[in-house]
Order: sequence, then structure tokens, then C-alpha cells
Amino acid sequence: MGAGIAEVLARSGVEVVGVEVDDAGLERGKGHIEASTGKAVARGKLTEAEQKELVGRISFGTDVTAVKDCELVIEAIPERMELKRELFTALDGLLAPEAVIATNTSALSVTELATGTSRPSRVVGLHWFNPAPVMGLVEVVRTVVTDPSVVEDVEALVARIGKTDVTAGDRAGFIANALLFGYLNNAVRMLESRYATADDIDAAMRFGCGHPMGPLALLDLIGLDSAYEILDTMYHQTRDHLHAPSPILKQLVTAGFLGRKTGRGFYSYEEPDSPKVVSGAAAAEAAEPVRRIGRV
Ligand code: 3HC
Repeated sequence: MGAGIAEVLARSGVEVVGVEVDDAGLERGKGHIEASTGKAVARGKLTEAEQKELVGRISFGTDVTAVKDCELVIEAIPERMELKRELFTALDGLLAPEAVIATNTSALSVTELATGTSRPSRVVGLHWFNPAPVMGLVEVVRTVVTDPSVVEDVEALVARIGKTDVTAGDRAGFIANALLFGYLNNAVRMLESRYATADDIDAAMRFGCGHPMGPLALLDLIGLDSAYEILDTMYHQTRDHLHAPSPILKQLVTAGFLGRKTGRGFYSYEEPDSPKVVSGAAAAEAAEPVRRIGRV
């Protein structure tokens, strides 16, 4: 997600400092940007010179101090409050007092993150959708302490990069995920209860309802680990059974089947990060853990 966000901003002329947790993450992020912009060149949407310019606007590193002069930092690390709080404390000590810290959290409390810093009024949610270069929406999340001028500034940034913003208060799931994740969880329950196959559940929503992808394929795109964390947070906040993560999700995550990013989730992919689902014997073999869980 971080790579997608960096690409979108750089495409609009914004200078970006991309910081990853380690060298492997950095290589993966760079690979994403190269592949994504390379595809845009191949499809005639970007010239090679524009691609070079875009990539040249992003400096890459693994040292968080590289962001110290930035006016806006967008955090997009795993959905774990303790990790985010630790990073926010480091950023708070590093950045100029007027700098804004935004979080890409999908469901965690922006207020809790804000109040852990010395600048709660300059912390805001900026929630992106996967794949960031393609999806047109960014949710802006304001807390009860966010300075209205900060909300206006980030809304203006979203407009500048050609996306649509919607602004919501700080409730788990904001607008889109609050509506989406009950549906996704129900699809997993359908599979788990062996009510229908993964292919049929996804086909029903694609061909019957015009969705670009079915719910299980979408969960693989989002990442099953992220989906689990989002549902769990929403469940704890709302106590609504709709969001109680279906057990199969946790089992797949524990087994390391995180979706596209690991090459295996509800479907099996040609390789990690590939959108290409393998078919035939390999797919049947890959679906076996899901079937086995369904039988228990
Ligand atoms: N990065 C950059 N560009 C990508 C991309 C990626 N990962 N994946 C696809 N694209 C681009 C392609 O290059 C192509 O661009 P073009 O039209 O300019 O040539 C365009 O998107 C369409 O791609 P494809 O033809 O390869 O594939 P599809 O038409 O099947 O589209 C999809 C793929 C855009 C992923 C589409 O299936 C889709 O919109 N799916 C729904 C995604 C969705 O709902 N996302 C939101 C998830 S919820 C979320 O993120 C919130 C979080 O908190 C969990």
C-alpha cells in the first residue's frame, strides 16, 4: 500500500520520501512502483521520460529520520496499535511542530494515535484503497481534536492528486470498510459452512451484481491478515456479530496464507504479488486447506 501511495503522490508532482522497515521491504516496494509504472508505459499512459521523472521524485530508504523535513507523513504500517504508537512517538519527536501526521489505518482509533503525540490537532486519518494507483477514493478521518485547517489541507491534497475524498468521524471502518467488511465476512462464512464454493460465491457477485471482483478474491487482494485485524477491531468496537471474524480467516493467516502477497489465500497465485490465479491441479491442491477447514 505504501508503494501505491508513494506512486500516486509522485505522479502528481509531490516529492516523496519512502521509508520501509528493512531492505527486503524496500526492494519489494521499489519493485511495485517499477512494475506499476512500467505497465502504465506499456499501455501508453505514461512516457518513459515521465516514468523516470515520477520515480525520480521518490527517495527510498530504511531510516525514519529521512522524513524529518516533510510537511506531511503518511503512516502505512501493519494494523497493530502498538507498532503504530511506537512509530507515531518517533515521528512526533522528529518532525517540525506544524507537520501533519496521517495514518492509513483501516479501523484503528485515529483519536488514540493522535492523543499519544504532542500534536493531537495535527493528526488525521488518510485511508487509501487497494490498489491505490487505481482506486479513486481516499477517506479523510477527523477526530474530535483535529484542527479543521488540517482536514481542509488534506482534502485539498486528495483533490490535487485527482482522487475523490469523503470525510468521516473516527469510528472503526469509517464509511467504506464499515459497509464492506460485513459483506466480506459473510462470504467467508458461506464458504466455511460449505454452502457454496469459492468460485461460485465470487462468480455470483461478479456476474450477478457487477462487482469487479468477488468477495474472496477481494479478500486475497486486501490481505487476509489485514482483513482479520480490521474485522477484529470492528467487532471489539461495535460488538456486532456481523464483524466477528470468521474462524477460517485466522486459520489461513496462522498458516501463512495471506492472499496475493504470499501467493496463496482463498486462491493460489502464480507467484507472490501476482494477480494470476493458477488453475487445474495446482488450484485444486491450493484450495485443499480451505476445503479441509470447511470439513472440520
Ligand atoms: N497497481 C497499479 N495499477 C493496477 C494494479 C495495481 N496493483 N492492478 C490493476 N491496475 C491497473 C491496470 O494497469 C489497469 O490500468 P489501465 O486501465 O490504465 O490499463 C487497470 O488497473 C485495470 O486492471 P486489469 O485490467 O489488470 O484488471 P481488472 O480490470 O480486473 O481490474 C482491479 C483490477 C482494479 C483490482 C479491479 O478488479 C477492482 O477494482 N477490484 C476491486 C478493488 C477494491 O474493491 N478495492 C478496495 C478494497 S478495500 C480497501 O482497500 C480498504 C482497506 O482498508 C482494506
